[in-house]
Amino acid sequence: PETITVAELANRMAERVADVVKSLMQNGIMATQNQAIDADTAELIIEEFGHRVTRVSDADVEDVITRVEDNPKDLLPRPPVITIMGHVDHGKTSLLDAIRNTQVTQGEAGGITQHIGAYQVTTKNGDLLTFLDTPGHAAFTSMRSRGAQVTDIVVLVVAADDAVMPQTVEAINHAKAAKVPMIVAINKVDKPSANPTKVRTDLLQHEVVVEEMSGDVQDVEVSAHTGQGLDTLLEAIALQAEILELKSNPDRNAQGAVIEAQLDVGRGPVATVLIQHGTLRQGDIFVVGEQFGKVRALINDKGDRVAEAGPSVPVEVLGLNGTPEAGDVLNVVETEAQAREIAEYRANLAKEKRAAAGAATTLEQLMKKA
Ligand code: GTP
Ligand code: MG
Repeated sequence: PETITVAELANRMAERVADVVKSLMQNGIMATQNQAIDADTAELIIEEFGHRVTRVSDADVEDVITRVEDNPKDLLPRPPVITIMGHVDHGKTSLLDAIRNTQVTQGEAGGITQHIGAYQVTTKNGDLLTFLDTPGHAAFTSMRSRGAQVTDIVVLVVAADDAVMPQTVEAINHAKAAKVPMIVAINKVDKPSANPTKVRTDLLQHEVVVEEMSGDVQDVEVSAHTGQGLDTLLEAIALQAEILELKSNPDRNAQGAVIEAQLDVGRGPVATVLIQHGTLRQGDIFVVGEQFGKVRALINDKGDRVAEAGPSVPVEVLGLNGTPEAGDVLNVVETEAQAREIAEYRANLAKEKRAAAGAATTLEQLMKKA
């Protein structure tokens, strides 16, 4: 059952604790400030003080998040979101840079001015792809455990001179657990010591059967250094995306996932958010994890200010009251009061969980000593 301490209730109503205790007493309830009272009693007291009751519960929060059941006819195609994974030093960043650079030289005169950990590229065929740069394995797992499935496709980078390594296996397991299709990029094929065949046979042991081995996982030989195979890789991604028939409703309150966030000296808390549903606009009020805010500015992956961001678009969001965590979900809500309530509710819940966890540990430690 939901409860609230007398002190907390007074605090939320901005009334004096003594007055709340007195009011409780007049209703036949003897309670000190640290005592918890049930929700119905709290409601009675709140009304006596002439305040409006707004109960925020798990269900309400869920409501805000999953309220919209999209009508199939409102769903429009959206770009795929691709995460690059693989063992340390196998060339993930180099590959991303190379993909981005081919794009830049292909006419984006201004080039990439800013790095926000996620960006979009357009292939020669005009397909728009969203790449996620940052998520390490830990972030990927934490996002998934919070239900923020951000990735549609995993590109598994395996260096041809090193073959399958521990983090390659981890990445395979992540992709499988998330039921996300995988494309294998066999990198560094420019190296004299490169042995792509070893990569393919190594992968067999982990039940990844690539097309070259008559399986159904696309594999592409690439070199981030020479640019070999990059077009083929992009085509493979576009093909995989087509099969997935990715769709989203751009015409609803935005929902997105935090890719990364930090406290910027000049700009305050800044979060890079990947929009998943709806369209986020300047002025929108939102809750994100235990934080909330009102969109002051949106900045795209080119460093330009934009008025809005739709499905699969990564944007920097300014206007937060605090710094959220990677994996937090952002939801646009109607009012600032609602945003604040949900954020506070979540913060309290987290605090209680931490306290409970702390108490449990202490007890365990005591038991061990005894
Ligand atoms: P972490 O982020 O540390 O996990 O590494 P990473 O997977 O991002 O690898 P990164 O792109 O930093 O590349 C590691 C090293 O491999 C660098 O010295 C790159 O220059 C080199 N490298 C990456 N791709 C290629 C390639 O295609 N050919 C050759 N010869 N070297 C490459
Ligand atoms: Mg890297």
